[in-house]
Amino acid sequence: MDHENLIFSLIERGQYSCESFLDPSLCQKLVTELKTLPMRAAKISKGSSEQNIPSIRNDSIFWLSAAQNSQAQNEYLEKMSKLMNIINRELYLGLKQFEGHFACYDQGGFYKKHLDQFKGNNERLISAVTYLNTPIQGGELRTYSRDNQDIIEADIAPIAGTLVCFLSNQIYHEVLPTTSERLSIAGWLRTTIL
Ligand code: OGA
Ligand code: MN
Repeated sequence: MDHENLIFSLIERGQYSCESFLDPSLCQKLVTELKTLPMRAAKISKGSSEQNIPSIRNDSIFWLSAAQNSQAQNEYLEKMSKLMNIINRELYLGLKQFEGHFACYDQGGFYKKHLDQFKGNNERLISAVTYLNTPIQGGELRTYSRDNQDIIEADIAPIAGTLVCFLSNQIYHEVLPTTSERLSIAGWLRTTIL
């Protein structure tokens, strides 16, 4: 990953992506682990308004945790912590913690256009998504322009190892329907500790 490009791109466009952020071996380990986890239907919103709306998103998720003592998850958390430190060093955002979950979109999976920051809660500043496998077709992450939420900025193919980061409160995005299983880790760099 090119640090200079990451910072420049976040400032200029509010988003950044690069291939080969994760080694193939780490992707493989995380996929193997995901397959053993009790994945559950993802919800939208938070707290009392939290609900399961399969017309908006239909992925299933499992939250990462250092407490699980998985070598692969800890390796991943370590990489996210390094990413957080780089961004803090350059942009002074005061990021304190990464939170993230495995996500599985089955054939026909999608997540409609949305922003990652919950209303009235600005703790999630930077979204960071990585892909663990490479679906045969579809499942692109479509991002929109920071300046105009109706203009498509990029369709990013979910290739194993790719990292995408963007400003959680400014960049609208959606997961286009996938034609085969799409495995990822979606997470956020937060300004508060959970
Ligand atoms: C999310 C999300 C994007 C992706 O989980 O909030 O937008 O490419 N994920 O999986
Ligand atoms: Mn999102």
